[in-house]
Amino acid sequence: MTSGQGVWITLEGGDGSGKTTQANLLATWLEDAGRTVVRTREPGGSEVGQLIRDIVLHHRGDIAPRAEALLYAADRAHHVATVVRPALARGEVVLQDRYLDSSVAYQGAGRVLDGAEIRDLSLWAAEGALPDLTVLLDLAPEAARVRLDSADKPFDRLEAEKNEFHARVRDAYLALAAAEPERFLVLDASASPDELAESIRTRVEALFA
Ligand code: TYD
Repeated sequence: MTSGQGVWITLEGGDGSGKTTQANLLATWLEDAGRTVVRTREPGGSEVGQLIRDIVLHHRGDIAPRAEALLYAADRAHHVATVVRPALARGEVVLQDRYLDSSVAYQGAGRVLDGAEIRDLSLWAAEGALPDLTVLLDLAPEAARVRLDSADKPFDRLEAEKNEFHARVRDAYLALAAAEPERFLVLDASASPDELAESIRTRVEALFA
């Protein structure tokens, strides 16, 4: 494995694409198979990260795009160093909502910064760490919006962005997946949760084979 003895799986996709549901289903399945699973997320997978999460998601008023990118990168640096690497070194499965692909998609394409620079910044922050598998739950922004509306939760700063922003995010994700087909599993997130879970399990089983 590129990441040490453990296995590192990240879930990516737009807001409302169903990442949390799939992460929960996969975690249960892995635990039932006797694996130790560390469920984590960015931003906010560490104590320092919780503070950063509060700023990036709930600060009232604008944050300069480069400052936003650095805040996510700072969260990532601390999270990878203190949560992800130690768990992988213990041989555990790290199951993580969002990682550097989120930054390339949201800060790069969404905020119109240079995607390659954002990726380099994240790789610097994480000392080059890349997951063994990244599951991309692909969903049209209009369909995602319907799901977010029905969830009846107040929108955070990113969710509140227009469909046009989320369309750029989606296109960027698909381009990232096309560039690294061996790391990505791309799934149509309009499929049923059970169908999606089955496809993910098949790919994850291959990781352990
Ligand atoms: P998430 O935890 O998925 O939100 P929720 O708990 O509401 O489902 O993600 C928080 C937001 O942060 C999401 O809109 C995407 C955004 N984000 C970035 O813009 N860049 C990043 O690098 C990361 C990790 C997240």
